[in-house]
Amino acid sequence: MKRILSGITPSGDGNLHIGNYLGAVRQFTQLAKTHECFLMVADLHALTTVQDQKQLQHNVETLILNELALILGELDKLGKSEDLENIIFFRQSDVPLHAELQTILNNVTPLGLLKRAHAYKDKMARDVMEDEINLGLFNYPILMAADILIYKPDLVPVGKDQKQHVEITRDIAGRFNRVFGMKKRNKEIKGQGKDVFKLPEAYIPEDVAVILGTDGKRKMSKSLGNIISIFAPVDVIRKQVNSTYTDPSRVHATDLGHIEGNMVFAYLDHFGNPGKVNELKSLYQSGKVADVEVKEYLFESLLKTFTPARKRYQELKNNPKRVKEILETGAANARSVAAQTMQEVREAVGLTNQYSFFSYEEVQKLSFKGAQSLALTKNITIDDFAKVEQRVGLVKEAVNVEKSEKLIRLTVDFANIGMRTIFTGVRPFGYTPEYFQGKKYLFVVNLVPRKMLNEYSQGMILAVDGEDGKPAFISADNLPVGVKIR
Ligand code: TYM
Repeated sequence: MKRILSGITPSGDGNLHIGNYLGAVRQFTQLAKTHECFLMVADLHALTTVQDQKQLQHNVETLILNELALILGELDKLGKSEDLENIIFFRQSDVPLHAELQTILNNVTPLGLLKRAHAYKDKMARDVMEDEINLGLFNYPILMAADILIYKPDLVPVGKDQKQHVEITRDIAGRFNRVFGMKKRNKEIKGQGKDVFKLPEAYIPEDVAVILGTDGKRKMSKSLGNIISIFAPVDVIRKQVNSTYTDPSRVHATDLGHIEGNMVFAYLDHFGNPGKVNELKSLYQSGKVADVEVKEYLFESLLKTFTPARKRYQELKNNPKRVKEILETGAANARSVAAQTMQEVREAVGLTNQYSFFSYEEVQKLSFKGAQSLALTKNITIDDFAKVEQRVGLVKEAVNVEKSEKLIRLTVDFANIGMRTIFTGVRPFGYTPEYFQGKKYLFVVNLVPRKMLNEYSQGMILAVDGEDGKPAFISADNLPVGVKIR
């Protein structure tokens, strides 16, 4: 399966507009049907401009909700609701390996390449002194190259404004491959060499490459105040629609109107019903429909398009636990893939040697435990896996084990297969017996019993890594007692 990767920076106030949706997010849910998708909230990138703790927290939280709500909303439309399918959604700073790769890529990136980058050039053109430009902004394309290359994607869906960054990424990847690539080292063995990095392609559908703002002149951008929001209150969206540039030469509804450059129709091409939009276009051109009516139809079409996402937004906002879980799973998967690439990079540049203890497996241990790894799981056969019996158990009794500072003894009911005694050593993390008492969790039950002090543990309670490495138990409250996990 081909892989795609993209990111959005939590700049501005973290809210997305229809330009971000058409230019980037929508491509994602469409490509997710046939591609493995990595989508990140590029929080480290925001530091180039957002240098206020509260503001950054707000922006990142807002963007997370915006993106997730849009993705889930689009999946709702496809009838695939809860399933994030092939989408790995994560926060950039949860995978610190991006920063390590950036440090390495710094060394194959020529200064001139960065000086030609738009973000830097634009600032310089505005007479900003070099001293006022931080190195984060200057180096931004290298971090973005690291973001991309570490996942070895085939495609990078972005708007046109990011095209240059993808080109710089290709350039840096090519340089790295030339300097450190296996091809170089193995050139005498024909066909044996393999480049570390794949050169990704930008994916920029022509019709959404640049979505113009409501002023009809410049790219839609929060900083220019020419946006149509997705999650703002409806009266704000109505105002934004009403202020959208139409045809300045048209004074009365009976005047013949122009479609070209008319932003209401430009947006309707994306959001309206094509039959109805064509009808409105000819009525407009023949002076038979007023601006207010086409704007009203745009407003309705936008609300219709984004109702599922707006609903999702509220749901997610009320359920921070679910948001965190999605991010944790995303980070775990992303780290697994990133760690594999970094192992190859370390080897290629010569950071590994005979005294290294940092093996591929060690790296994986450093990544989130409990990772549902895409690429790194040591393969076992399906038959082997089928032997691992996991069931839902109801904790009938939970007590601290005397003479132990760690253990809690759980007496667990598995309905059809009876009761088991299972120990868990989680008191050092602050867990008490009351936490488990009367609740349902997932257990592994067919392990060889293990001696704990002078008793045997007849299984294991499952947990994922929570905050600060504290185990977090997976509630099975909505599942029947004794049921087997397949
Ligand atoms: P950002 O946050 O500025 O924009 C997010 C995405 O939205 C697209 N976009 C638009 N597309 C069409 N018309 C518009 N008016 C419009 N406005 C925004 C952008 O092109 C982008 O695809 N550097 C990136 C974030 C990033 C990234 C990455 C992207 C960090 N790492 C790795 C891809 C891969 C940025 O600031 O995008």
